[in-house]
Amino acid sequence: MAKVTVKDPAGNVMAQFEANSEESLGTQAQEAGAPIPFSCGVGACRTCVCKVEKGLEYIDREAVGPMHIMVEDDENLTCVSGIKPGTAADAEIVVVAENL
Ligand code: FES
Repeated sequence: MAKVTVKDPAGNVMAQFEANSEESLGTQAQEAGAPIPFSCGVGACRTCVCKVEKGLEYIDREAVGPMHIMVEDDENLTCVSGIKPGTAADAEIVVVAENL
């Protein structure tokens, strides 16, 4: 578990939620109300990309599937990324959805 905050590019908070390690970060963000767009859904297009402002160490960029394209070190494709198992419940992650 971890506390995740999703912002839009202007810095507005779109959603905050307790994330699990089973589902992708993007799916959980959508369910929490942040409309992060998906297109391919398999880590191949950048539509769902988020920049990580805080908590990069808690994110497994290929938690639910492999990335098929390269992204910057502080970015993750939220359709395939997720929270690392065993992450402390009080861990904080802040991401900015670049295509909101
Ligand atoms: S929706 Fe295409 S990379 Fe995530």
